Parts: sequence; structure tokens; C-alpha cells
Amino acid sequence: MEGGNFTVTPWEVTGEIDYDLLIEKFGTKRIDAELLSRLASYGPLHPMLRRGIVYSQRDMEWLLNLYDKGQQFALYTGRGPSGHTHLGHLMPWIFTKYLQDTFHAPLYFQMTDDEKFLFKDDLSQEDTLRNTYDNALDVIALGFDPKITKIIVDTKCIKTLYPLALKVAKKVTFSTTKAVFGFDNSTNIGSIFFTSIQSAPAFLPSELEKHNVPVLIPCGIDQDPHFRVTRDVAESLGYYKPALIHSKMFPGLSGSDKMSSSVPETTIFTTDSAKQLKKKIGNAFTGGAVSAEEQRKTGGKPEVCAVFKYQFYLFESDDAKVDSLAERCRKGEILCGECKKLLSDRLILFLEEHQRKREEAKSKLDDFMMKVD
Ligand code: TRP
Repeated sequence: MEGGNFTVTPWEVTGEIDYDLLIEKFGTKRIDAELLSRLASYGPLHPMLRRGIVYSQRDMEWLLNLYDKGQQFALYTGRGPSGHTHLGHLMPWIFTKYLQDTFHAPLYFQMTDDEKFLFKDDLSQEDTLRNTYDNALDVIALGFDPKITKIIVDTKCIKTLYPLALKVAKKVTFSTTKAVFGFDNSTNIGSIFFTSIQSAPAFLPSELEKHNVPVLIPCGIDQDPHFRVTRDVAESLGYYKPALIHSKMFPGLSGSDKMSSSVPETTIFTTDSAKQLKKKIGNAFTGGAVSAEEQRKTGGKPEVCAVFKYQFYLFESDDAKVDSLAERCRKGEILCGECKKLLSDRLILFLEEHQRKREEAKSKLDDFMMKVD
């Protein structure tokens, strides 16, 4: 979708995103107060829900109605292994973990090494496969339950995915992929086919259990176009339409709307050292004034500040604390230096812990990988 001065597609997110307009254009539903209070009845609401970071959905009411009647749903999400994992990738996965814990739901996690090979000119198949196993460590480090979590590597599990992808592919025309994804005659044919591979895991739980299983897909709103296609074909193939729950994009340190690996200076990778991290946060875009003196007088602007957004999106789960940080900034009581220090201290601890779990994950990889015979 291209609107105003932004673009949001599964392969490109740029500009100042108008998230309300996306709801309208994509035809999704806002997560309203009623759904929030319903979700709160299953366990404490996740801060991302309370704060409107996870903000849009499709068919959540339907999914919860079935759940209330005793029908367990499965979760499906994924990652396109284009490089190292950064904090922006962790955000929807952390939310997925909350869903797994709250609903005891099995998770299928797709690694689309094929996608990144097809869509990125500079990546070889070796690169995308290497990234796959590297990124899987970050997924495992978040603590998903190994008994009910399976990682699907596309090129390794193709035998399982292919029959499902074929069923989808037969129902999707070239003109649909042009309209939904903006493809044209110069698009390579692998890319045109790819959406059927991303649809396949939405139907896999039903195939494996030999009866229809409801599926919930937590994802960044940029992935919604794929699942519109999936939902359009689902019923004609005899499956339920998957339900969706969408998050906003995680902001970059430069103040842009999305963290992107192509700008490593403004991206925090899960493998960064404390030194790299401090430097990146030190250079981050803030909502501060030109001088400290000025800022004490006029205050700062937390709503545009990358450092504040990090606390808000991911690191400060206490609402009272995050509100007070914004308030103190607006009044000029806390300046950018102190705020950056608060964030880097917290992030250093987070990354140390994550990197330790990432090391431990190396011996667990095999347990998490979906096996194909
Ligand atoms: N295409 C996604 C990406 O580029 C990866 C992905 C595959 C995915 N299946 C998914 C993301 C399901 C969310 C939900 O990152």
C-alpha cells in the first residue's frame, strides 16, 4: 500500500506510517476496548496491547469464541532470514510468546530462506540458510516451549509445505499477485509463487491433525497482504481462514518508523556488544532541544524521540514509569544524556541475558526443528 508519504508492503516499509489509514486500506479491525477487556480475561494484558502497539486484527472474536468452546488454536508466525536479528524482529516474537503462554497454543515458526533468496539480489542460498540457523537461536532464546514449538525451514521442509502451497497456488492468479503485491512482468517467477509458500503453514496444523484447526497469525502489519491472499482461498480449500493480530513496526534509532538492518548504525542487533550498543544509543535521534539550557526551559518531545520509543515499545513494561518518564521529559526535568544512559544500562542487561540464552539455544536447535521424513 502506498499512501500519503509512506509505503508499507511485505518487502518495503518507508516513510511516516499512518497506522489508522492502514486499517482502512487493508480492511482490518482496530483492537477496541471490548476486545481488550475480553483478552484481559485470559491473563494480564500484554503492555503492547495496552499501549496500542499491537493494534489491529482479523477474526479474533471468532477465534476466541471457538477457544471458549474448548477448541484449541495454533499460532503461526515467521521470519525472513535476511541477516542478523535486530530488536525490531524480537518485538512480534515476544508478543507471540505471550500468546503461547496465555493460550497454551502450539507454535509453527516459518523461516523463509527461499523468500530472502528470491527477493534479495545480494543473498546466496548459503547466506539465507546460514542466517536461518543464526536467527533460530534468537527465537529459541525467547523461551518458547520446545514441546509445542516447531521451526519450519522452507528449503528443508519443502516436502511438507509443497502440497499445501500447490493447492494455494492453483487458486491465485498472476493478476491477483500484481494487484496485492505490485508485481509486474519483470518480477521473477519465484517471487510470484512465493506467497503460496507463506500461506502453507496456516493450513499445516489442520493437515497434521487431520481435522480443521483454527490458526492465529501474530505479525507486523506489513505482512497482512500475504494473509489476505491466504484468507481468500482458505474456505474454497476446505480450511478455516486464519485469524490475525497485527503490530506496528518497531522504530529505528534514527527516528524513522522502522528499524532496518540496511542501516546498521541505527539498528541494534541481538549480537551487538555493550560498546557498540552505547555508541548507537549515543547517536540516536531524540526529541531534545538544541542546548541543555533550552531544554530545561522548553522541555523535550518524547513522542518523536527514538530513545523514549524504545522504553515505550519494548523495555519499560510499567505504565506508571513510562508515563512519568514522558512527563519529566516534557517538563525539562530529565535531559537526553540521562535518558540515553537509562536505556543503555537496561539494554546492556537485556542483551547480556539474551546472548547467554542464545548460546544455550545452540544445543536445543535440533529439538525445535520440524523434521521431514
Ligand atoms: N515474510 C516474512 C518476513 O519477511 C516472514 C514470515 C513467514 C512471516 N511467515 C510469516 C511473518 C508469518 C509473520 C507471520 O519477515
